[in-house]
Amino acid sequence: MTVDTAATAAYIVAALLFILALAGLSRHETARAGNAFGIAGMAIALVATLALALARGIDPVGIGLLIGTVLIAAVIGLIRAARVPMTGIPELIALFHSFVGLAAVLVGWNGYLEVEARGGAGFPAELLGIHHAEVMIGVFIGAVTFTGSIVAWGKLAARFSSRPLMLPGKNALNLGALVVFVALTVWFVIDPTLTALVAATVIALALGVHLVASIGGGDMPVVVSMLNSYSGWAAAASGFLLGNDLLIITGALVGSSGAYLSYIMCKAMNRSFISVIAGGFGIVASSGAEKDYGEHRESTPDRVAELLANASSVIITPGYGMAVAQAQYPVAELTRRLRESGVTVRFGIHPVAGRLPGHMNVLLAEAKVPYDIVLEMDEINDDFADTDVVLVIGANDTVNPAAAEDPGSPIAGMPVLKVWEANDVIVFKRSMAAGYAGVPNPLFYRENSQMLFGDARDRVEDIVKAL
Ligand code: TAP
Repeated sequence: MTVDTAATAAYIVAALLFILALAGLSRHETARAGNAFGIAGMAIALVATLALALARGIDPVGIGLLIGTVLIAAVIGLIRAARVPMTGIPELIALFHSFVGLAAVLVGWNGYLEVEARGGAGFPAELLGIHHAEVMIGVFIGAVTFTGSIVAWGKLAARFSSRPLMLPGKNALNLGALVVFVALTVWFVIDPTLTALVAATVIALALGVHLVASIGGGDMPVVVSMLNSYSGWAAAASGFLLGNDLLIITGALVGSSGAYLSYIMCKAMNRSFISVIAGGFGIVASSGAEKDYGEHRESTPDRVAELLANASSVIITPGYGMAVAQAQYPVAELTRRLRESGVTVRFGIHPVAGRLPGHMNVLLAEAKVPYDIVLEMDEINDDFADTDVVLVIGANDTVNPAAAEDPGSPIAGMPVLKVWEANDVIVFKRSMAAGYAGVPNPLFYRENSQMLFGDARDRVEDIVKAL
């Protein structure tokens, strides 16, 4: 068996492992196995690629550079991953996407310079046009992903404002950039000049910044999964340029699963996919800021403990604040105590609660909350009306009644957990501040709502003690 055949066989095994990884990651119970499949697939792919490079006679300096780069990158990756807090994962992912985009730009440029340096020699003349189109498409998707992901990182890490940038005629600007790119690609295929490639790169870099800067805070989850999809397509484009089948398959898997996740999230937020990727097209001004919702009421850990002790059904709806406070451990303890004394306790998880898909599920699984009492929004939303007490732990936008009742609200139409239908609602947060989308929440002023101020971890621990 030649090295080429062995590498092809290894690539097929790796591709199958990646498919198993995606399948595994779609359920809590199998997520760890999914991760292991993905790691195994990537290890096999790296070894096969290295063996292929050696068999094709890569010079020793090249192989040294390759191994050195992989080692340095692996060490940086391990250190970053070990240090990042759970709340910092979305911005880390955005940063990872930017690297994939940058790599696609470099592969594209390299593909052009390599062929040009040889004056096209050694490349089938009839395929040159296709090669040049691949270069342009790879560089374009890569550059949009690169700058778009950096802006997304800045917004998620609160380095840039999460407000949408509202340039006049922004949709015309985006459309214009696309039209100019198509014209440049046609020019480049006919006459591959450096000027066309530079112009396309600059336009794509600017488009990436503009697209993501135009998107408001509330739509950021979709943007992150959309950039994930773009990074997949950028990798697939690099695969075509490098003639690497595995990169094409992997890129297409990431690209299509990211696109599907974006679609699911758009549905969860009642947003049109096109309007989100076109940069918040159709954003409506907030009408909630001027409204006077009246006075809020406050509670104490002792009173909440008493309420819980007398309840027969409790639903806990966690949000980003539970992640910030790392309150999942006392929440799991509280759940255990209540269940032991006969109270029915369940969790209601909004699809975009927290800062990344599945954020709450991961935290609750980490604290060993049983999977069967952790329900999706659709599974639990009709049960709030028959529930005694709802504990809203660090959630805000995802439980905002304005989404259901105020057509002028920026989050109007976004499906939310109908917590306000329960007998009593206790809201754990530190202040009356708005949530991520910056929209005031009338829930806090409802007759049946009480605020429990302070760090969510401390307050839940106080309640456990009082119980
Ligand atoms: P948010 O609307 O962001 O509200 C979180 C709440 O937690 C805040 O009101 C904050 O109020 C409170 N909080 C923060 N730290 C706390 C602490 N230590 N103790 C107690 N409370 C604390 O969260 P959500 O309901 O989970 O909604 C998610 C939002 O993020 C949505 O707008 C969603 O679109 C967006 N988003 C989601 C994702 C994904 S994929 N899930 C990604 C990016 C953005 P105080 O400051 O007053 O304490």
